[in-house]
Amino acid sequence: MTNDAELGEVRDAALVIEDGVVAAIERAGAQGDERIDAHGRCVIPGFVDSHTHLVFAGDRADEFAARMAGAPYAAGGIRVTTDATRAATNEYLARLTGARRDEAHGAGITHLEIKSGYGLNVATEERLCTIAAEFTDDVTFLGAHLVPAEYDGRSDDYVALVCGDMLAACAPHSRWIDVFCEQGAFDEDQSRAVLQAGAAAGLGLRVHGNQLGHGPGAQLAVELGAASVDHCTYLSDADIEALAASDTVATFLPATDFSTRQPYPDARRAIDAGVTVAIATNCNPGSSYTTSMAFCIALAVRDMHMTAAEALTAATLGGARALRRSDIGHLAPGARADAVILDAPSYTHLVYRPGVPLVAKTIVNGLSA
Ligand code: NIG
Repeated sequence: MTNDAELGEVRDAALVIEDGVVAAIERAGAQGDERIDAHGRCVIPGFVDSHTHLVFAGDRADEFAARMAGAPYAAGGIRVTTDATRAATNEYLARLTGARRDEAHGAGITHLEIKSGYGLNVATEERLCTIAAEFTDDVTFLGAHLVPAEYDGRSDDYVALVCGDMLAACAPHSRWIDVFCEQGAFDEDQSRAVLQAGAAAGLGLRVHGNQLGHGPGAQLAVELGAASVDHCTYLSDADIEALAASDTVATFLPATDFSTRQPYPDARRAIDAGVTVAIATNCNPGSSYTTSMAFCIALAVRDMHMTAAEALTAATLGGARALRRSDIGHLAPGARADAVILDAPSYTHLVYRPGVPLVAKTIVNGLSA
């Protein structure tokens, strides 16, 4: 359990930034060429959003409304976004992605991972990875998001395409490879094949798993040394034991469980067992159309029984760990100067004042975003 002391909270301090990096944390009164007075408000590390699908076209509000009226969530909705995304130009997709990135900055997110996954053919997946790379150095190739309609009944052929030509086209633009290991998407053998091909191409591994039911995703992620397994709504005791003994982060996406009317993950059980956890927005048009990390933190505390300190840590340092980065997610000398001034005296207000836009200023690399 993270408590306030473990957060390393300091009061009446000045954050000294030089050349985009934290130079020191000093008592108020430090000198500098430029000075921002936070007026006693709370400053936190910028949120690290380690799971997003920001590059897409189209809208699935009708699907969301139907779900709220009782329809179940199904992976197949991904094909609706794939049709719209394939038809969109690069310029239009880049404009949409930039607007979503700006919205995320406004919500206090200072670093994003961005996945492909709404192209599902070689040319479009490559386009999406290239566009994502304009906005982040954490690009994830997710050709194995769903089997596209033209490969119906031939999922092994599609996996061969993903592991062959598609990977060759996308790997140069990507740092990570991901697979949706779930009933209705890719089974354990197919997921293993995708991840092993990605590793052989020099990519780090991530897994979408255990979202819609119990399944092999979490243990496969551990077996192959993935940086993160994301969703983790359904974890067995054996999954938790395997995760706790590994370097694989369990990334929770509570806005997805909210938007799909699923149960929330049992974060308390995972944390108490020693699992390293992160929280991310999973911003995408189907299962979680939000850039509000504050909303995710509020859900994590209210419905997943994390403390506010744990949830803040999971949304900052946890996200950095899920991306295997030590330069972001915390504020200490040498870290990237990514910070958020909250219009609040303490981070607890992120939960205490749900739905209120408390981000007064977002600083990325030492500059106002
Ligand atoms: O992480 N689970 C798979 N992919 C996305 C959903 C994508 C969609 O429905 O468009 C997710 O929830």
